[in-house]
Amino acid sequence: MSVKLLYEGKAKKVFATQNPNQVLVEFKDDATAFNGQKRGQIAGKGLINASLSAHLFRLLGQHGIPTHFVDDPKPRHLLVERLSIVPLEVVVRNRVAGSLQKRTGLEDGTILDFPVVEMYYKSDDLGDPLLNDDHIRVLNLAGVELTARLKDEALGVNAVLSPYLEGRGLILVDFKLEFGITDEGVLKLGDEISPDTCRLWDKETGKKLDKDRFRQDLGTVEEAYQEVHDRIVSR
Ligand code: TMP
Ligand code: ASP
Repeated sequence: MSVKLLYEGKAKKVFATQNPNQVLVEFKDDATAFNGQKRGQIAGKGLINASLSAHLFRLLGQHGIPTHFVDDPKPRHLLVERLSIVPLEVVVRNRVAGSLQKRTGLEDGTILDFPVVEMYYKSDDLGDPLLNDDHIRVLNLAGVELTARLKDEALGVNAVLSPYLEGRGLILVDFKLEFGITDEGVLKLGDEISPDTCRLWDKETGKKLDKDRFRQDLGTVEEAYQEVHDRIVSR
């Protein structure tokens, strides 16, 4: 297999493969927060996030949700379909936390009457700002139809993941998804699903078991990632 590095981001490296429609993604232990202003390492994170993502992409596939996942050929790597990524981060929220708490003043942990979907502009230069539907249209980031489909798909992912994680003692507070389009024009879920991109709270104690432990310097970061992995993959 070729080892040509196509792209290196904050948490992943993407390599070309012999199949022009597939790439190999390596998950790094590097962690950043606040648009790269805070930097660190979470030992074992790459291994855990790749393994968790593979498990959850398989689960979504079984529920008829198309994803870029092809295979997990070796530790900390995923083989995925090459997508043309829509430059939007789609966030689904079941409870108040993070930037929604700051924007609304609602109490952390408040259960929302319905899952709230938000779109953010994938732009490091701008710090990933929140966009409304008109912003998305005027910037030509996605058409009206595609924007509606992104919301529907994201809600579909939530409808599968929320009860599944609840069954493993985890509250899915909120999460971020990225979507892309294949060569054949098919919309698929891309990126990863992990404690880097989801807020996961222990159902009994409310303990944060995700990247907020790193963002907020709460300690026992590695243990939290391992706990999530144990509950979802290793059980
Ligand atoms: P927020 O409350 O900071 O807006 O985050 C919402 C969700 O999105 C949360 O589960 C963490 C995730 N997220 C990312 O995956 N990447 C990011 O850059 C940010 C800011 C949040
Ligand atoms: N994507 C953000 C950044 O680097 C990290 C986050 O808060 O999840 O910096």
